[in-house]
Amino acid sequence: MLNDWSGQRFPHPPGRRPFVGDTLGTDAVAPLQSTMRRGAELGPIFELKIFDQKFVFVSGAELAAELADESRFEKALSPALVALRQFAGAGLFTAYNDETNWALAHDLLRSAFTKDAMRRYHPVMLAAAQELFDTWDVREAPVDVSADMTRLTMETISRTAFSQDFGSFTRDEPHPFIPAMIAALRAGQRKGSFSGMPGARLMSRRIDQRNAHHQAYIDGLLDDVIATRRASAASDHDLLGIMLDTPHPETGARLDDLNIRHQILTFLVAGHETTSGALSFALYYLTRDPALLARAHEEVDTILGPDREVEPAFEQIAKFRFLRRVLDEGLRLWPTAPGYGRSPREVTTLSTGHVMRPQDWALVVLPMVHRDPDVWGDDAGEFDPDRFLSERSRGRLAHSYKPFGTGERSCIGRQFAVHEAVLVLARMLHRYELTPDPSYELTITERLTLMPEGFRLALTPRVPSGANPPPSGAERTDAPSQNVRNAPLAG
Ligand code: HEM
Repeated sequence: MLNDWSGQRFPHPPGRRPFVGDTLGTDAVAPLQSTMRRGAELGPIFELKIFDQKFVFVSGAELAAELADESRFEKALSPALVALRQFAGAGLFTAYNDETNWALAHDLLRSAFTKDAMRRYHPVMLAAAQELFDTWDVREAPVDVSADMTRLTMETISRTAFSQDFGSFTRDEPHPFIPAMIAALRAGQRKGSFSGMPGARLMSRRIDQRNAHHQAYIDGLLDDVIATRRASAASDHDLLGIMLDTPHPETGARLDDLNIRHQILTFLVAGHETTSGALSFALYYLTRDPALLARAHEEVDTILGPDREVEPAFEQIAKFRFLRRVLDEGLRLWPTAPGYGRSPREVTTLSTGHVMRPQDWALVVLPMVHRDPDVWGDDAGEFDPDRFLSERSRGRLAHSYKPFGTGERSCIGRQFAVHEAVLVLARMLHRYELTPDPSYELTITERLTLMPEGFRLALTPRVPSGANPPPSGAERTDAPSQNVRNAPLAG
């Protein structure tokens, strides 16, 4: 549906043309970054018209906080999410607020994100990280950080949630599911960006035809996973087990197999790129600043001690306070899910004077809200993890930091993501000297999420403080299985 806001006008960038609107200045490859540039001087709310479709963007923190009021507003599905629904159906992320499957799945799956559940996932997360390190330890060239973080987070979510192993660290080529999933997501994204253009329906049909075999492969594979689990006597307490075996405690309702397939897809998609992007931005900002890196090293050495092979215990993850602030600050500058849609529950007047009806939607542009100088100061563009020290956070405008979304539709996987990311950062920093290419300049690629592109790190084994450095040229003899891991890696 066209988002016409009863014809009300908003500030827009100069150069609007009849028919195409503001389309010409929009970068089709990096639409978010071009919106940030074009909206920079337009105030807390502005619009872009892409052919017939009006996109209203909220970039001011006060106004974003107003839209976070759940008594007045709720989640809206932007054209991109409507297009994604074809792939992920009424999975949690793309369900409409009043769809019964949303409430049912939300109630059932909450139990998969309790502290006890996180405790079960912890060893799986550690094992996946170790498998990645094993590949790094025999590698000579610098690693592509975003690509490897994505392999790791994909493997982690699929093993913890569905007990499925994609073999990401042993295969030469990725499992065929991964390129099929990426192709299907791209198809959805293209359909979302065409939505306001003339001929959109025809283009959508063509894209669907081209994508049909990917979709059929994905559907078949996931239906097999569901059927195999149903046929087995296993009662794994993972997300799939919960969806298959647990009726709703009050109504007794169960998810049907089609919805379970959509939930699996949703968790595979929502549960990996966002976290791998967050890890990659954190590593980028840490490794370009020796003072920050030294503080991170001090923290990991204090908590984990001198043995670089040591794995953190579950309870230790919450102790990495500095690493957590680094992660939070990376997600402030580059929230990897960079926005969300909001609509009012009833006709309402915004503090800007604009009247908003339930069929109107606005997109909250998180990287702009997170840099609003009224909240974050004149140095809002600088990376400073200490902004998240409690003494500096106190009194900050509520709802001005929303990387995990807002209200009842906010991220169900937040604790999972934070636990995984801190665990991986801690182990990497403890285990390796991480050396970036000094000439690298941050380039951000936009898929469904944001990710540094072309960011590489050279890895060499690190000697934590307090550890005895290995005698030069000598191999360890006490732990033969670790010799490979300790081999120096050329950078
Ligand atoms: C740093 C990592 C992550 C970030 C930045 C992030 C961000 C977000 C945001 C902004 C939303 C709200 C979207 C909206 O309102 O339209 C969301 C929802 C969601 N996220 Fe995450 N997410 C992350 C990790 C995860 C993980 C690891 C999982 C799964 C294990 C996950 C599963 C979901 C699901 C299922 C929803 C939909 C919730 C609902 O509507 O009920 N996310 N996430």
